[in-house]
Amino acid sequence: MTGFFARLCALAAPLFAVFLLLPPAVEAEDAYLGLPDAAGREEVFAYCGACHSMQLVVQQGLTRHGWEEILEWMIDEQGMAQLEAEEEKLVLDYLAEHVSPETQKERLRARGLLGGG
Ligand code: HEC
Repeated sequence: MTGFFARLCALAAPLFAVFLLLPPAVEAEDAYLGLPDAAGREEVFAYCGACHSMQLVVQQGLTRHGWEEILEWMIDEQGMAQLEAEEEKLVLDYLAEHVSPETQKERLRARGLLGGG
């Protein structure tokens, strides 16, 4: 029994060490589902993550016009509060630039889920 336990510890220790060595930044960035740090990110996560998972938002890849329509739909039909003009611009600018059809393709490609060039 002692031998087994010693071997278990010997196996587990390096794994545990690797876990401890992971930089906390990786964990923090994961909270943003890999979306880049730029003006509007906090707002998008605060406003759009209030009712549903941000995964629902991030899995889309829309143009600015597409995001405008989604925002309108959230406000008109899903009970989202109207944003102040400045906040709305921040949110739409961020989504249009970082959750676009292009960035969506890059994300899929980076995860090996999309072939080709
Ligand atoms: C007040 C709650 C609320 C807020 C705030 C909200 N949503 Fe939603 N959202 C919903 C609900 C409810 C649904 C599900 C609607 C359905 O499928 O009938 C939804 C669905 C969605 C979908 C999925 C659409 C699809 O094709 O299935 C997207 C994308 C989305 N929301 C984006 C956003 C974005 C972007 C924001 C921030 C600008 C946001 N939501 C803020 C309530 C909200």
